[in-house]
Amino acid sequence: MLVSLRDVCSIAEQNNMAIAAVNSASLEAIRAAVEVAEETGYPIIIQHAEGHEDLIPLKYVAPIVTSLAERSSAQICINLDHCEHLAYAQRALDEGFTGVMFDGSYLPYEQNVEYSYRAHQMCQEYGAGLECELGSMGSREGGESDEGGTAAEAGAIYTDPDQAGEFIRDTGLDILACSFGTVHGIYKGEPHLNYDVLREIRKRVHNVPLVMHGGSGVSDEDYHKAIDAGIRKVNYYTYGVKYAGEAACKMADEKRAAKSDAIVYWHDFTPVAYESFRNTFEHIVRVFANGSKPLNVH
Ligand code: 13P
Repeated sequence: MLVSLRDVCSIAEQNNMAIAAVNSASLEAIRAAVEVAEETGYPIIIQHAEGHEDLIPLKYVAPIVTSLAERSSAQICINLDHCEHLAYAQRALDEGFTGVMFDGSYLPYEQNVEYSYRAHQMCQEYGAGLECELGSMGSREGGESDEGGTAAEAGAIYTDPDQAGEFIRDTGLDILACSFGTVHGIYKGEPHLNYDVLREIRKRVHNVPLVMHGGSGVSDEDYHKAIDAGIRKVNYYTYGVKYAGEAACKMADEKRAAKSDAIVYWHDFTPVAYESFRNTFEHIVRVFANGSKPLNVH
């Protein structure tokens, strides 16, 4: 069933867990996300990033993901990720998205508040949930996945716990994306997450659900620590597409090694990618459950 961003995050809150929010720029990833949610019994968030418009335009992806969610036995939220234009958010809401992340983190604070509040008013009309970002991750989510590095290299600015309460009050957001050491893209070395910042934000915002962006490439131990500090949604993209890409290349290499003039068809890649996404998503969904029991009763 199609559920709102608010609803999945309150499920996460009640169970001290996080919901996997997977960016799904291909049918293989979408299929894997739906099936993992159905088979594990945990909710999932399928995201479309405005920056992925070139990879898979909203007009194609929206009818697919919303109708699959409506027909599914699992609780599935369809969220617009890193939206920078309110007109694009309007299109997604018209298409049936149940959540929007408005990203004004690149704007001066007052403008971030102003645009985020306008996004809140739009979401209210549709009963959709709103996520906004305070602080900055530095590198941005896009079609490329080779940004990243360390938070400092990416130019990240940690979320200011003192500002967080007022930002929530003035924007009307439902969940808050925080910058505390994760980056979008590939990590150079171990990610260093600042749990003190996270715990301080959580204390000041009276348990408003928090969101980890740049969630792929983080260790299972760090996921659990972040969940215990208040993370309720983990955005996951780069490492999932990296693993699927590596598996597809390996398959093609092996096919050509076995027979030098072997033809590698496009349809050879899709089942390999699907299998890889499935394994990756199943792993993170179970880790993010943080010991809580499956929530769907079949
Ligand atoms: P990664 O691509 O680093 O996993 O980040 C995903 C994300 O934060 C999408 O908003």
